Amino acid sequence: MDLFITGVGSGLGKALAEEGLRRGYKVHALSRKLPESLKGKVNFRYCDLRDLEKVYPTVRELLSGIGVLDLVILNAGVLGEFGDMREVSLRTFKEVMDVNVWANKLIIDAIMDSGIKVKVLIGISSGASVNCNRGWGAYAVSKAALNCLLKLYSREMEGTHVIALAPGLVLTPMLEEVMKQDEERFPSVRRIKESPKRTPEEAARLIFDTIPKLLEFESGSFVDIRKI
Ligand SMILES: NC(=O)c1ccc[n+]([C@@H]2O[C@H](COP(=O)([O-])OP(=O)(O)OC[C@H]3O[C@@H](n4cnc5c(N)ncnc54)[C@H](OP(=O)(O)O)[C@@H]3O)[C@@H](O)[C@H]2O)c1
Repeated sequence: MDLFITGVGSGLGKALAEEGLRRGYKVHALSRKLPESLKGKVNFRYCDLRDLEKVYPTVRELLSGIGVLDLVILNAGVLGEFGDMREVSLRTFKEVMDVNVWANKLIIDAIMDSGIKVKVLIGISSGASVNCNRGWGAYAVSKAALNCLLKLYSREMEGTHVIALAPGLVLTPMLEEVMKQDEERFPSVRRIKESPKRTPEEAARLIFDTIPKLLEFESGSFVDIRKI
């Protein structure tokens, strides 16, 4: 069984890669950092997803010789700047879109052009893609675009089950950053602080355990793990 995953340097991606290994997958990972726990255990290529022209060739190289990927998890993502729409520059919006959306287009194109058969493709989305709460600007726009991007690919990728998955609240560096924001101006921050959260390890186990249920949703769907 082969798993390809992006963004294993911290948080959910690191835990998903570790859980994948535990479940017997051969793990292929693209990231900037490779944590100690994964060293020598995964097929790894360094890639900064902001460097868009490097993404396609690096994926082709990483996955050369592979015919089938049982699971692809497009996990890497950035929060960008939290703030009101007028406060956040278009440059920041573009930077967030590069990592959260356009890099994923290049990755999927590289996989398809390599002729690799993908059984299940999960894009890690967010509740922010549909909530559009105040302050979530570039991140919310990027995750809404990711949902649409994945739906579009699902119509072309025959034989691949594609799901945009909101993983629920996971205690990672990204969520820590959200919880530092002004909860008076951005009420969703207070709601997040008060809500139950999972550790990355718990969330990773839940995601793997939930895959059979995800297959019951039409390919191309957005699914929030808290609602199933
Ligand atoms: N935590 C939550 O509650 C929550 C909720 C909804 C959705 N999500 C989504 O879950 C995913 C993982 O986030 P997280 O919460 O685990 O946050 P995190 O700890 O900040 O992890 C972000 C991951 O993305 C990778 N990444 C970021 N910029 C990159 C770049 N330029 N090039 C390559 N990789 C890059 C990082 O890997 P490197 O450091 O190796 O680059 C890291 O592994 C994201 O897509 C996020 O939007 C999280």
